[in-house]
Amino acid sequence: MHIVITGASRGIGLEFVRRYQEQGHHVEAAVRDPARSPELAALAASSSGKTRIHPCDVTSDQDARTLAASLGDVPVDLLINNAGILGKMQALDQLDYADILRTLDTNALGPLRVTVALLPHLRRGSTRKIVHISSGMGSISDNTSGGAYGYRMSKAALNMAARSMANDLRSEGFVVVTMNPGWVKTDMGGPDAPETVENSVRLMMERIEQLRPEQSGTFLDYRGHTWDW
Ligand SMILES: NC(=O)c1ccc[n+]([C@@H]2O[C@H](COP(=O)([O-])OP(=O)(O)OC[C@H]3O[C@@H](n4cnc5c(N)ncnc54)[C@H](OP(=O)(O)O)[C@@H]3O)[C@@H](O)[C@H]2O)c1
Repeated sequence: MHIVITGASRGIGLEFVRRYQEQGHHVEAAVRDPARSPELAALAASSSGKTRIHPCDVTSDQDARTLAASLGDVPVDLLINNAGILGKMQALDQLDYADILRTLDTNALGPLRVTVALLPHLRRGSTRKIVHISSGMGSISDNTSGGAYGYRMSKAALNMAARSMANDLRSEGFVVVTMNPGWVKTDMGGPDAPETVENSVRLMMERIEQLRPEQSGTFLDYRGHTWDW
């Protein structure tokens, strides 16, 4: 398979690269700044050319188009829109709207930009899978603690975009899902998170492998349960 992964410099994205590379796939790793990811560079160097690194800030339309152009005419079988930021955790009376906009731009518009830019490649692919890494914090029904305005709103917006995308692309055989990776020990999840990045990614890969057409438009968690919107 040819797989594109955004936000591949560290955390969950880097682990996706590592594991798909181990399985022998072609991995197109998109990162904001290739010079700042020595771990990814080392992985790519050991891949016999099967893992390639591409600069792509997902808040940039131009970067998304450049990524598409740099892939040439390769088919993309699986796109994992993983890049994301937490933004500031703000109290209701201290909202930083510029930060909220940045979070929405990265987490909700970023996956749209990259998906649209790569649609011609995805249409050439054989499996036609698009996975958006969302969050339990994007679930409206699961929000019983409030706060985290920018992050929660951005992931809820991503969920809605994914649902529309699933409908729009269903007749072409695409499977589009959002996935909650759990609370994972990464720079974002912090050291108290209960789940390791290795386990979260391993289980998400099982879910992705087993995706069925009737699951398109759903919100899944890494253990395979359907998550409430
Ligand atoms: N960890 C958790 O507990 C948890 C829980 C639920 C959902 N998630 C979601 O899982 C995904 C990965 O999170 P993580 O835990 O691996 O976080 P992380 O360790 O903070 O890594 C975030 C990744 O996203 C990249 N990124 C951020 N902004 C970007 C931009 N504008 N363009 C391109 N790449 C950008 C970062 O690149 P740089 O190195 O350039 O900054 C980095 O590679 C995110 O979508 C996150 O919301 C995580």
